[in-house]
Amino acid sequence: MKILVTGGAGFIGGNFVHYMVNKYPEDMIVNLDKLTYAGNLETCKPVEDKPNYKFVKGDIADRPFIMDLFEKEKFDVVVNFAAESHVDRSIEDPEIFVKTNVMGTTTLLDACVKYGIQRYHQVSTDEVYGDLPLDRPDLFFTENTPLHTSSPYSSAKASADLFVLAYHRTYGLPVTISRCSNNYGPYHFPEKLIPLIISRALNDETIPVYGTGENVRDWLHVYDHCVAIDLIVRNGRVGEVYNVGGHNERTNLEVVKTVLRALNKPESLITFVSDRKGHDMRYAIDPTKLETELGWKPKYTFDTGIPMTIQWYLDNKEWWENIISGEYQNYFDKMYVEK
Ligand code: NAD
Ligand code: DAU
Repeated sequence: MKILVTGGAGFIGGNFVHYMVNKYPEDMIVNLDKLTYAGNLETCKPVEDKPNYKFVKGDIADRPFIMDLFEKEKFDVVVNFAAESHVDRSIEDPEIFVKTNVMGTTTLLDACVKYGIQRYHQVSTDEVYGDLPLDRPDLFFTENTPLHTSSPYSSAKASADLFVLAYHRTYGLPVTISRCSNNYGPYHFPEKLIPLIISRALNDETIPVYGTGENVRDWLHVYDHCVAIDLIVRNGRVGEVYNVGGHNERTNLEVVKTVLRALNKPESLITFVSDRKGHDMRYAIDPTKLETELGWKPKYTFDTGIPMTIQWYLDNKEWWENIISGEYQNYFDKMYVEK
């Protein structure tokens, strides 16, 4: 099979590319990435010399480019990770979120309709369901929870999901969607909470906690997300949505304190700052459908996954230090031209 993975120079897409290239040597994995600020070819280094891997630089919203690529490559499967992914950036500048997350998705869908594929998989998020109240721990997001978005990011992701489902109903496109909770693990861009805590704490810098720090996120190791997507792409029912999450709810303050403790850094680094506008209170996934239909079971809990992740950041300082020093973007732009 020839599998197009978009956004494979980012956090989850990068981990997925590693997983697929190693697990399926008989499949060809084509990684298409625009290399925005969040894309990093260094993330693809572990697989770049494998015979079943190829990198293509490009924008999923560039219609002529996408149509040419599909005509040339004749993909069997498309897994779309490419997106603007950071909520705070979407609050500052929503437009690129519409362009990439919505129009990029519809461009890929049009190419799939035109050239035909066996499966289009959309990597979505639990944020499309909005949030849950803190005083109702009995409530969880199921696949039937109505879409009720809060931020420009989640609105763009929910719009994309609706287009994906519409292309199934209208054109019979064989689609699936996964909606996962917060991921953590290797290659996570340090603008996001967990790598931000690790990188700043290691430099003895303050850790900004939005609002009261009582907001709850449901954390899943990125490896378990990759396994879930692979299962859904191969065995999931066409036209279906699958929630992905491992019941690892933590308040932001708990997350910060856990990481500081593991690094032997003082809680005095915690600094409360202004709240995120429209800040969602609690996310919590019910993964029953994925577990019962496809036999998915997460390998890691928060308590086993966090020490591993901290160790990865300690062992791979160069990867994140280049990012936070701003060097990597210039460096890789230059590297890419030279290639
Ligand atoms: P990321 O920001 O780390 O990576 C996104 C990647 O997409 C980058 O490599 C970037 O260069 C690329 N990209 C951006 N715009 C592009 C475009 N127009 N064309 C081609 N490539 C483009 O994001 P992530 O955290 O790895 O998230 C990946 C996907 O998973 C997103 O769709 C996101 O909505 C979804 N998701 C993320 C989480 C999470 O916790 N991070 C949870 C659930 C779902
Ligand atoms: O739930 C899935 C989503 O998880 C994905 O769809 C998004 O792409 C991904 O970025 C993530 O969104 P969040 O907004 O939950 O993640 P973030 O790491 O930005 O923030 C996690 C929580 O920590 C959130 O409640 C805001 C808070 N926070 C974040 C940062 C960056 C802080 O308190 N301080 C910070 O400096």
